[in-house]
Amino acid sequence: MKVVLLGATKGIGRALARRLGARGDALFLLGRDSEELARSARDLEVRGGFAPESIGTAVCDLERPEGFARALDVANAALGGFDTVVVTAGLFATQDALEADPALARRLLTVDFANTVVFCEEARRRLLARPGQGQAAKGTLVVLSSVAGERGRKPVVYYGAAKAGLTRYLESLDHKYRAAGLRTVCVKPGFVKTSMVADLPVPPFAGEPEPVARDVLRAIDRGTPVVYTPGVWRWVMLLIRVLPRAVMRRVGF
Ligand SMILES: NC(=O)c1ccc[n+]([C@@H]2O[C@H](COP(=O)([O-])OP(=O)(O)OC[C@H]3O[C@@H](n4cnc5c(N)ncnc54)[C@H](OP(=O)(O)O)[C@@H]3O)[C@@H](O)[C@H]2O)c1
Repeated sequence: MKVVLLGATKGIGRALARRLGARGDALFLLGRDSEELARSARDLEVRGGFAPESIGTAVCDLERPEGFARALDVANAALGGFDTVVVTAGLFATQDALEADPALARRLLTVDFANTVVFCEEARRRLLARPGQGQAAKGTLVVLSSVAGERGRKPVVYYGAAKAGLTRYLESLDHKYRAAGLRTVCVKPGFVKTSMVADLPVPPFAGEPEPVARDVLRAIDRGTPVVYTPGVWRWVMLLIRVLPRAVMRRVGF
């Protein structure tokens, strides 16, 4: 595969990039900090046995949509075309912090929903423009949403709303473009121990980035439209989805 990754400098994205690199997939990294990107690329080259400077990078900040098209064009030129785009970039803050800071709330809603959708649209157009490959898909768009988008919950009012919107967008893309050759993979992680949630208490069923990356890679290879990871979260959310509203008002999670 020829893969463009947005958000592989940390956490789940970094673990996924390492897995892809280890099996020899061609990679191109996008992110908001050029030095972090260069460090990640050199690390992936050493781990994956790639030639030095063979993994390209370009700055792409989810707060600056005017740079999305150029970043993807640079990736396209460097890879000689790409067939997979992965978005693991995202922003999180606690509901208390967001309610205390409307500007931060606006940033989170913009990054995690509106600008992620705008970026995905740039990626979608490029993937669908690839020449047909017989019965095979033209391309795969992989985006990390969250179980937080499954149900309105007190601790994630804004973050959950953004992820709910993102999940619906990805579902619609799957319905609209699957037959045209676009495979959409919507990943719904439960709690995963990364820097994003380092300040939060660790709940039951928490996962680690490496096994989560393994689940994501399996979903990419199979073209699975929705994947919960760690897998137990599928059953946790099945329960939470059917809890009556009166219960949801009383409980704190
Ligand atoms: N960890 C969890 O419990 C959990 C649960 C459910 C869903 N998720 C979702 O899974 C995805 C990955 O999360 P993670 O836990 O791996 O988070 P993480 O360790 O904090 O990594 C987030 C990544 O997003 C990048 N990023 C942040 N803001 C950006 C921006 N404006 N433009 C471009 N890149 C930006 C970061 O880049 P820098 O290096 O520049 O900071 C970093 O590479 C996110 O979408 C998150 O919402 C995580």
